[in-house]
Amino acid sequence: MPHPYVLLSAAVSLDGYLDDTGPDRLLLSGPADFDRVDEVRASVDAILVGAGTIRADNPRLLVNSAERRAARVAAGKPEYPLKVTVSGSGDLDPAANFWHTGGEKIVYTTEKGAARARAVGLAADVVPLGAELDWPRLLEHLYDVRGVRRLMVEGGGQIHTQLLRQGLADELQLVLAPLFVGDPDAPRLFGPGPYQGGRLRLVETRPVGDVVLMRYEPTAPGGRFPSAADHHWLALACELAAACPPSSTAFSVGAVVVAADGTELARGHSREGDDPVVHAEEAALAKIAPGDPRLAAATVYSSLEPCARRASRPAPCARLILEAGVRRVVTAWREPDTFVAGADGSGVLVAEGVEVVVLPEFEGRAQAPNLHLLG
Ligand SMILES: NC(=O)c1ccc[n+]([C@@H]2O[C@H](COP(=O)([O-])OP(=O)(O)OC[C@H]3O[C@@H](n4cnc5c(N)ncnc54)[C@H](OP(=O)(O)O)[C@@H]3O)[C@@H](O)[C@H]2O)c1
Ligand SMILES: [Zn+2]
Repeated sequence: MPHPYVLLSAAVSLDGYLDDTGPDRLLLSGPADFDRVDEVRASVDAILVGAGTIRADNPRLLVNSAERRAARVAAGKPEYPLKVTVSGSGDLDPAANFWHTGGEKIVYTTEKGAARARAVGLAADVVPLGAELDWPRLLEHLYDVRGVRRLMVEGGGQIHTQLLRQGLADELQLVLAPLFVGDPDAPRLFGPGPYQGGRLRLVETRPVGDVVLMRYEPTAPGGRFPSAADHHWLALACELAAACPPSSTAFSVGAVVVAADGTELARGHSREGDDPVVHAEEAALAKIAPGDPRLAAATVYSSLEPCARRASRPAPCARLILEAGVRRVVTAWREPDTFVAGADGSGVLVAEGVEVVVLPEFEGRAQAPNLHLLG
């Protein structure tokens, strides 16, 4: 299902608060970081905040730099990104800055909220998503109907918490500001409750004036949409494929098995060690104890679709995956007819209820070590 890349952006105090409890917005970042945020805003198609942030901060959410706006226009984009908010209640002040600055605006809400939002005559497109607000539907709507490919989410805490919990965030840009709020009633960035994500991957740290920017990606597979985690692990499988000993009689494939919390359980590649015929998924699965309870919720990432038939061993990889109890496979490329006519490992897996996700954007990388086999 196509959906936008979702980038969460927030600033927190050293004691983890998003704001204080005073009437004015607490400035956590400094000028250099506001400029960095402006640059990120200029790079996206849409900016989203929750209704709570509109009520508390009355933000404008503009691209402030005239050069950045001109560059957007020169690239054929609207001068300002689309502004998006979500409100279940529809309790939105029609005089707020959000509606009267920048470009187009859209409110995602419930049936009830839509009636209220329309009654006050908001200068925005009001889109009800049913009795409750459904985040995957909202993201699909932004992608399909509004053409949004890159979405920046600027809070507040409730919004960030839901997107991260539901595995819908591709990136978190967190700024740590050198001050304390010290008020337990102040809003926190992330609320209490279960987080499935496991440990995030730190992809960058950068001082920006007196704050520190930290960029993280989730590592846990298996949200509603293919995520940054899926991209990371499949890229690793493609790297492993590129490291296989060359062969003129078999594909070069890499595979990684990843637990639901983002822990790598095992990796393997074709013709690994001193076994001249071992397949990547077979090599990886052989390193995990049979019956390991983490397998049931694990994902197998394989640069090539798992094989359905093979001459070199009794069980093809699709069968080994089923026997291991794995229920999700992500791959870059369907097996061509080079060695086996009509190979359909995905079909074997899907017939047994396994979710098979193909990410064609990785096909080139997965094929690269096999070009001599592709006629
Ligand atoms: N430091 C930073 O980077 C930063 C950034 C942004 C905000 N903030 C701070 O964060 C605070 C606001 O955060 P917040 O958590 O209170 O508000 P929020 O996350 O901005 O918005 C929460 C509101 O969004 C709507 N909403 C959220 N999830 C929904 C769902 N699943 N279905 C329907 N509606 C949903 C609801 O609106 P309705 O009530 O209308 O139904 C809810 O009250 C402020 O103090 C602000 O200063 C800080
Ligand atoms: Zn195989």
